[in-house]
Amino acid sequence: MIDYTEKIPNNVDLGRDRVLQRALEHWQPAYMGWWYDMGPTESHNYEVYLRTAITVEPDGWAKFGYVRMPEYRWGIFLQPRSAERQVNFGTHKGDPAWQEVPGEYRSTLRRVIVTQGDTEPASVEQQRMLGMCCPSLYDLRNIFQVNVEEGRHLWAMVYLLHRYFGRDGREEAEALLERRSGDVDNPRILGAFNEPTPDWLAFYMFTFFTDRDGKFQLSALAESGFDPLARTCRFMLTEEAHHMFVGETGVSRILQRTCEVMNEHKVETPAEVRALGVIDLETMQKYLNFHYSVTIDLFGSDASSNAATYYTTGLKGRYDETKIGDDHILADEVYPVYEVVGNKIVEKKVPALTALNERLRDDYIHEIQAGVDRWNRVMEKAGVSFRLRLPHKGFHRAIGNFAGHFISADGEVLTKEAWQNHEREWLPAPEDHAFVQSLMTGRVVEPGKFANWIAPPIRGINGQPLNFEYVRFN
Ligand SMILES: [Fe+2]
Ligand SMILES: [Fe+2]
Repeated sequence: MIDYTEKIPNNVDLGRDRVLQRALEHWQPAYMGWWYDMGPTESHNYEVYLRTAITVEPDGWAKFGYVRMPEYRWGIFLQPRSAERQVNFGTHKGDPAWQEVPGEYRSTLRRVIVTQGDTEPASVEQQRMLGMCCPSLYDLRNIFQVNVEEGRHLWAMVYLLHRYFGRDGREEAEALLERRSGDVDNPRILGAFNEPTPDWLAFYMFTFFTDRDGKFQLSALAESGFDPLARTCRFMLTEEAHHMFVGETGVSRILQRTCEVMNEHKVETPAEVRALGVIDLETMQKYLNFHYSVTIDLFGSDASSNAATYYTTGLKGRYDETKIGDDHILADEVYPVYEVVGNKIVEKKVPALTALNERLRDDYIHEIQAGVDRWNRVMEKAGVSFRLRLPHKGFHRAIGNFAGHFISADGEVLTKEAWQNHEREWLPAPEDHAFVQSLMTGRVVEPGKFANWIAPPIRGINGQPLNFEYVRFN
């Protein structure tokens, strides 16, 4: 018998709960089977310079060192419990935070945890081929870091399912290893997690846009009245920051490289830029439009009775709930949402409780805009006049009030035909994908070397130089 108290680093006193320990012992080989099948392809013998969470202390929570990924120590960490913590919103506001699942909310809460948990292995599946065409050892190490931590986030949700939901929790934990991203018969739960991530530009866009959706969902769950969920999500957010960093800096570095080449060769048109082996800014905009629109769908319907229920029952709060200066009940508040009436988009005030998805989406968009502004400073500094911008919120939406409507990137209501006539200007067409992929046919693995289409980062990982051997292939 393997001593799992040693094998699974944890701060939940796993060794003292034999039943839970056995349940996780049973799940662990299935998880490893999933990792071997669906984790990064051909990577199992690589030694990767990874960070591993070892405590929840803000300083020194992780250590760095070479690890073969199947031997990564996927640990279970919750932020420490605070005895005074209360339910901070909804009808139970002011009650002590729950340490066990309230019986009447059991199935709702399980659904919330399963939906979050399902996204974690999904993104690993989406990204599993990208190591074969990495632009550098630094980037290869970063994608592997993201992958192992998404694996840990799955562990975090599975711990909650096993610890608090008995047999149906264990069944859900197994199903989390059975669904597959993009599978016709047994897909992942949410749309964006069934989209392919076919190239590194898509990967950077995904970690900027979609991992940030993860941040906002985790932040809302970190406010939960169910204390173990709140404490779990708080720690996951520590790791999530690096994923978004990888995405934001990845896109920045591509923009920088493209601008350098445009300036050096005094070229501007997409065809001229592409001929020099870098990604034209128009294509960057199209990828942005795609990833932004499929990600804002993840927040759900603009008006949602489920969202209202999650809130009033104290299960899922707002972003930064405890920093908001209102009554945290929201019974009398309204919030603006948008809908299409005829050929116009009109604002409509709805009860704030039903608009909580929209509100979280707006908080997210606010943060996304700041990131796009930072990207635009790369072009500004380089003296290139092109600017990236977010398309209208209603553009290319499949969920909520805009679903079924044809909204242009500028927010005009179009007919289906008119929209389709412009689709290639707004979204990556097959030839755009083909071009991006043509730049990424092999991998760049010489320490300190970077593919032609991306600039090196400003600094290495954990103070290591850029020419550090971040991955050893053996
Ligand atoms: Fe995650
Ligand atoms: Fe992530």
